Amino acid sequence: MKNRSDIYRTFARYYDKLGWERFSHARADFILKFLQETGCMVKKVLDVACGTGTFCILLAEKAYQVTGIDLSREMLSMARRKIKKKQSNLVRFYHKDMRNFKLQQKFDLVTCNFDSLNHILSEKEVFSTFQSVFAHLAPKGIFIFDVNTILGLRNWRYQDINQTDTFLTLVHGVYDEDLKRATVFIDGFVKEKDEKYVRFQETISEQGYSVQTLWRLLGKAGFGKIEPIGTSKGKSRRELESSARILLCASK
Ligand SMILES: C[S@@+](CC[C@H](N)C(=O)[O-])C[C@H]1O[C@@H](n2cnc3c(N)ncnc32)[C@H](O)[C@@H]1O
Repeated sequence: MKNRSDIYRTFARYYDKLGWERFSHARADFILKFLQETGCMVKKVLDVACGTGTFCILLAEKAYQVTGIDLSREMLSMARRKIKKKQSNLVRFYHKDMRNFKLQQKFDLVTCNFDSLNHILSEKEVFSTFQSVFAHLAPKGIFIFDVNTILGLRNWRYQDINQTDTFLTLVHGVYDEDLKRATVFIDGFVKEKDEKYVRFQETISEQGYSVQTLWRLLGKAGFGKIEPIGTSKGKSRRELESSARILLCASK
């Protein structure tokens, strides 16, 4: 298993500032509504690849007991800083690799948000991630995650310049058709309090998996029921394959 300890190292400080935490707000709204509508009895939540902790904190504010794990110490440090400010004791963050983790507890809901699963670059490791998640699910527990499809990652061939009063980012994305892997190179300049700009660079690679592969690996890991939800609800596997991003709910 390749050590990826440098992941989101430099970007962590700017992740929220650049607005990347917005996804967590939308996902938390969706999950809260989903739990209410489906009547799922959830008390304990595990957010895998929790990043800067926004999603965890939003759920903790609704009285769920939340645990977040992430491989990036820098992302976790931002997350811990945020709960310190809020003085919340309903969230715990741990430095763990989703490809193989052990926590001494089980959860009613496990989430993995914002293409975090695409950060796992081999099928073998996606399988071990699913196995680890499965092992941490309570008897009626559910696993909700989104992934960029192969089609979605193909769209990453782009160049983008984003400029605001406080930052400038230059993003260059490439897609390798043979590997089914997209990579974005982010070059950012962020204005600090002293008005000086600080430069950061981050490279993010995401692996595409076919819908069929995801189904097969989830089944092999023990998941008995897999259901597209949210904007993916009711779609056939073929229709999912032609969506850019899909949202799935897997249970025992
Ligand atoms: C796009 S960010 C998403 C963060 C958060 N879920 C959100 O919605 O903002 C991807 C996250 O996956 C984490 N990550 C990547 N590989 C990981 C691994 N093997 N184990 C745990 N976390 C990982 C990164 O450190 C990063 O925080």
